Amino acid sequence: MSDDLVSATAGDDELDAEASVRPRRLAEFIAQHRVRDQLDLLLKGAMGRGTPPDHILLSGPPGLGKTTLANIVAAELGTGIRTTSGPVIERSGDLAAILTGLAPGDVLFIDEIHRIAKPAEELLYSAMEDFRVDVVVGKGPGATAIPLDVEPFTLVGATTRAGLLSGPMRDRFGFVAHLDFYSAADLDSLLHRSARILGVPITDDGAAEIAGRSRGTPRIANRLLRRVRDYAEVRADGVVTEATARAALKVYDVDALGLDRLDRAVLRALIESFRGGPVGLSTLAVAVGEQSDTVEEVCEPFLVRAGLLARTPRGRVATEAGWAHLGKTPPSGTMQGDLFARDA
Ligand SMILES: Nc1ncnc2c1ncn2[C@@H]1O[C@H](COP(=O)(O)OP(=O)(O)OP(=O)(O)O)[C@@H](O)[C@H]1O
Ligand SMILES: [Mg+2]
Repeated sequence: MSDDLVSATAGDDELDAEASVRPRRLAEFIAQHRVRDQLDLLLKGAMGRGTPPDHILLSGPPGLGKTTLANIVAAELGTGIRTTSGPVIERSGDLAAILTGLAPGDVLFIDEIHRIAKPAEELLYSAMEDFRVDVVVGKGPGATAIPLDVEPFTLVGATTRAGLLSGPMRDRFGFVAHLDFYSAADLDSLLHRSARILGVPITDDGAAEIAGRSRGTPRIANRLLRRVRDYAEVRADGVVTEATARAALKVYDVDALGLDRLDRAVLRALIESFRGGPVGLSTLAVAVGEQSDTVEEVCEPFLVRAGLLARTPRGRVATEAGWAHLGKTPPSGTMQGDLFARDA
């Protein structure tokens, strides 16, 4: 999502580096063993029967491997893949053109599928279920629906907000995979793999240092590796060690837990401007000058997982660990005290 916009404007070198480390096959995909195992069965079962597998929904925070997995599905099946995204499908006609252009067995990948327009979503229902679409020509009483056949295909949908998908949409996926944040040990192996591909010498300590600050996210781990490599090449002997990683991440403002400037801004606003909350998402977003979506989808999942922020029915609240991370103690007798007392 928004991260892709950022990488789209990055230099060619960055894009090449990103593409070269992206796993192509299921066996190269690090961690997420449960999802991998389930997908493996789904794909092999379908290949054995010679039919396209059920439609697949991939959900989870940005940068955990949804786009990567969609491409892996097509590679494992040995089929073509058409890629589009929810927000660009404005008219159902656009979608009908894509659907009727699919070759038998193709994978259709729709990124950010929760943002697809309603009429297009309804068209998708009949395509997913009956491999058929009704294209409406004309308006008013003279309008006619022309039924068109669609080749059997597999839809792979990706979303950072599974909760925003409509019930009928979700029900039409035969397999739903939820990607979780990666453990530091998983990111450690991922970093060794990426470093090998990029030809960057890295020590175990160096990889561990970066892994611990990558917010459980492969995209961030790879990005930090490239930044640390720059530092190691320019200011040291080119080897990524614990010391070069620490020094580089200091320059790039990534703290010990991996929070970046925006994550810290959210936590600081919550604590300094709103005395730790509770405060509504949109108010918090305005306080840091960001879109609510970005705060909710990019910053919050990790802040929640790191135990620094809690989402309560009354709003966002800084936890004790959140206060401690900024080197502060929560005032006693505040609303949060009550909230935690009640939760406990
Ligand atoms: N399991 C994995 N093993 C190795 N590398 C991975 C893995 N998952 C993701 N990556 C790396 O992380 C990068 C980001 O992954 P990807 O683009 O698939 O994320 P995404 O979930 O689609 O994110 P977004 O929601 O922002 O679109 C990829 O370029 C890939 O190199
Ligand atoms: Mg993606």
